[in-house]
Amino acid sequence: MKIFLDTANREYIKKLLPTGVIDGITTNPSLLSKEGSQSKQVLQDICAMVPGPVSIEVVEKHPDAVLKQGREIAQFAKNIVVKIPFALEYMQVIKTLAHEGIPLNITLVFTPLQALMVAKLGVTYISPFLGRWDDIGVDSIDLLEQTVDIKETYDFDSQILAASIRSVLQWQKVAEASADVITVPPAIFEQVFKHPLTERGIAMFDADWQKLGKTSLFE
Ligand code: E4P
Repeated sequence: MKIFLDTANREYIKKLLPTGVIDGITTNPSLLSKEGSQSKQVLQDICAMVPGPVSIEVVEKHPDAVLKQGREIAQFAKNIVVKIPFALEYMQVIKTLAHEGIPLNITLVFTPLQALMVAKLGVTYISPFLGRWDDIGVDSIDLLEQTVDIKETYDFDSQILAASIRSVLQWQKVAEASADVITVPPAIFEQVFKHPLTERGIAMFDADWQKLGKTSLFE
């Protein structure tokens, strides 16, 4: 399973990238707006810091402008993935950019059939928004499993990128559902490393070792 960090915060990226398990970054206009008005600089820094794919979302609305901006974003750095919201009026834009070989991440996907539509266009990533499903009382894992099933049945190349993640438990269920990729907020990523039994175990090993009063393991 590939793990992306869902953030535009450079401090978090700098802190968590050395773990060696983060494969890429997803950003969106809401995440970028939290980092102040210097979005170009923020995105340049992120693309330079991260060796893997960095998703940057279009902010234009009219399909012609989305097409133009999609091409501009694709030129921004070598590791760019252009993020485009799922919509009927963007299907032709998505088709054109996918045929040009531009890696695309189709965002705001809420049904398995929406995923099927863009899988047919050969996009690189399809992002079902799990947390927002759960927010409205829909079983997100059920829908994710159906989406993964459809992808596997028809052998689409697109990767299912589980997004809008709200908890570590949800992450585990996403892994069990065989999603190709997950994008997690930094706070949830950090939670995986915090477990009271792990912390208590380390403290116990240390206390027992200190009883020997030795300064080195091999002395
Ligand atoms: C995905 O790429 C999005 O950036 C993100 O997961 C949205 O999550 P939210 O529902 O927490 O805003």
